[in-house]
Amino acid sequence: MELQDDEIEALGTRGYFTRGAFLGEPRARAVHAEATARVAEGTLMPAGIRRGADRTEDTAVRGDFITWVQQESGTALGGLWEAFAGLGEALSAGAYLGLGRFDLQLAHYPGGGAHYQRHLDAFPGQSNRRVTAIYYANPDWRPEHGGLLRLYLEDGVLDVAPTLDRLVVFLSERLEHEVLPAHAPRLALTAWYYGRDAA
Ligand code: OGA
Ligand code: MN
Repeated sequence: MELQDDEIEALGTRGYFTRGAFLGEPRARAVHAEATARVAEGTLMPAGIRRGADRTEDTAVRGDFITWVQQESGTALGGLWEAFAGLGEALSAGAYLGLGRFDLQLAHYPGGGAHYQRHLDAFPGQSNRRVTAIYYANPDWRPEHGGLLRLYLEDGVLDVAPTLDRLVVFLSERLEHEVLPAHAPRLALTAWYYGRDAA
């Protein structure tokens, strides 16, 4: 995988870049199908339940359901894992970010207004999460479905639609962001890259 100069430049100056097509449509549709099947298994957990607060209170902050995706061969989700590994290597080589391992999470927003309040993925000095990369697997996403990713930039906000095969990459300690209420089921696969010195 190769990063374009303008992508590396944007990450350094603005803290993010997006790419409209990461894997190509056939692989993106296969990711969508496998992720949808994982959701249908019923094994995803409400996000944020470990916070210890009661679940009603948590869904006011964050209404998605999550599971983790591991390295595996012969599947579309495994292929996405490999693509994220390549992205991490390219970011280290091209953007001098010194990234090590990453975690890959599948998140399902069931619709019905599920959202995720404005937050940072990492607090400077408190975490080794350096880069967040989000891949969307939503065919036929329409404006009335909501569910935009809102990035808080220095000069205003940028709303990104979670359309099939879109990739968004940003610096975890720098960009606050939120998920606006989703009115249709919404799938996101998020990789968090840790610094090379992380445990
Ligand atoms: C997250 C997050 C954004 C999205 O899981 O931390 O901010 O667009 N997700 O799903
Ligand atoms: Mn986040």
